[in-house]
Amino acid sequence: MNATIPQRSTKQTQVELYDLQLQALASIARTLSREQQIDELLEQVLAVLHNDLGLLHGLVTISDPEHSALQIGAIHTDSEAVAQACEGVRYRSGEGVIGNVLKHGNSVVLGRISADPRFLDRLALYDLEMPFIAVPIKNPEGNTIGVLAAQPDSRADEQMPARTRFLEIVANLLAQTVRLVVNIEDGREAADERDELRREVRGKYGFENMVVGHTPTMRRVFDQIRRVAKWNSTVLVLGESGTGKELIASAIHYNSPRAHRPFVRLNCAALPETLLESELFGHEKGAFTGAVKQRKGRFEQADGGTLFLDEIGEISPMFQAKLLRVLQEGEFERVGGNQTVRVNVRIVAATNRDLENEVEKGKFREDLYYRLNVMAIRIPPLRERTADIPELAEFLLSKIGRQQGRPLTVTDSAIRLLMSHRWPGNVRELENCLERSAIMSEDGTITRDVVSLTGVDNESPPLAAPLPEVNLADENLDDRERVIAALEQAGWVQAKAARLLGMTPRQIAYRIQTLNIHMRKI
Ligand SMILES: Nc1ncnc2c1ncn2[C@@H]1O[C@H](COP(=O)(O)OP(=O)(O)OP(=O)(O)O)[C@@H](O)[C@H]1O
Ligand SMILES: [Mg+2]
Repeated sequence: MNATIPQRSTKQTQVELYDLQLQALASIARTLSREQQIDELLEQVLAVLHNDLGLLHGLVTISDPEHSALQIGAIHTDSEAVAQACEGVRYRSGEGVIGNVLKHGNSVVLGRISADPRFLDRLALYDLEMPFIAVPIKNPEGNTIGVLAAQPDSRADEQMPARTRFLEIVANLLAQTVRLVVNIEDGREAADERDELRREVRGKYGFENMVVGHTPTMRRVFDQIRRVAKWNSTVLVLGESGTGKELIASAIHYNSPRAHRPFVRLNCAALPETLLESELFGHEKGAFTGAVKQRKGRFEQADGGTLFLDEIGEISPMFQAKLLRVLQEGEFERVGGNQTVRVNVRIVAATNRDLENEVEKGKFREDLYYRLNVMAIRIPPLRERTADIPELAEFLLSKIGRQQGRPLTVTDSAIRLLMSHRWPGNVRELENCLERSAIMSEDGTITRDVVSLTGVDNESPPLAAPLPEVNLADENLDDRERVIAALEQAGWVQAKAARLLGMTPRQIAYRIQTLNIHMRKI
């Protein structure tokens, strides 16, 4: 990033400008031919615009799969604050100058920003007395998938058309080259890959915004999502109740080439068998009492998209057989009909049961299990990723805060308490606990005391259960586990636990504090 704003003579001739543009174009083409991360490529192109052409503080925004909103993919700025502010900025279709380009697919040129009410100045980065140019980035189908914008350093009217045209050429290069680069990265042909740029950027900037986690086990889950999303393979999402199975299923869909097609969900446990059948496969008019007209089932609704079969472990053997046929043959009949319907649907199934065990017990068909279990993603329970709790709490509180229309904050000691709970209901339980805490907090601050009022405290049931005696000399124990085990064995008397570990009372007190161990009342 470069802090200097280039000086140039205002008497620049058209010829000089064209010459500069040609040189810059060569330099941009060279940049784009390098094999690099997309965000780095974009930043380098924006740096050329800024330093060589006086097109200042360039900005590239990329649209979501529905083309309904844009988020910032790259920006040229030397201000950390602006760069950070960009993370959360979204431009909805039609909103502001950028949103207008997305909506209409035409370039917008402002002679002076302050004279145009559409300019929102969300980033507080641009000189309001200077011009502004925003041009669409289009995919080969002609849809606007992004916007390239920058601020010319001169107000010379006669230069505007040439500068706009130049930015349009750069936008075109960006769309094409970035797509190619992504395809090289993926080791696949360009031909069968549409809108790759969009998904790559979404993967980078959108996906982590919706699913929180940085512990190694969660990073592995994210990695699996990224890998599996682009194929049509069936995915089986496994995890205890409340671990985020549905969230992961939707992340797979929205990061897949099917993202612009429907994501349809059906909870297999919520309906009695006969209803489940017509819900999934649809029915013909008159199929049963009340079937007054033909109705499409979820399979047909999800055509081209993804069908999420939640609680798949709950279906009866008879229904398992019906489902197996659709998965094998991709076809079925509506209830009460004999016309065969073919669909193209990707299946993501989820269960909190141990399906392998159900297969062994003969409760779940083995052939269906293998059909579903092409790729299994296991989400670890929250108690195995307590390091994610601070970040999750922040994320969930901002969500709850939006619903309540006020900002919510959480104190460090409340976080420590949350980290010491075992969360049998996982993230859902954490979310409910925070929502109750928010309701009880008058000033929007979630303190340890407020959290305790929701029942999450030292006496919470899972901790109250006696834990098996742990061998303190076990090499596999990490520091935190060892101290907790000693405390358990010492009946939570610190001095006694210190003796068990060969520490001084001061040493154990320090560990308890730094390892975020929540002391139980005794
Ligand atoms: N990693 C995560 N980051 C952010 N939010 C999460 C995460 N995991 C779960 N959540 C949130 O927690 C709640 C429960 O998640 P979800 O419904 O996906 O869980 P589930 O495993 O399907 O639960 P159940 O078994 O009860 O159906 C949702 O509001 C979800 O958005
Ligand atoms: Mg669920």
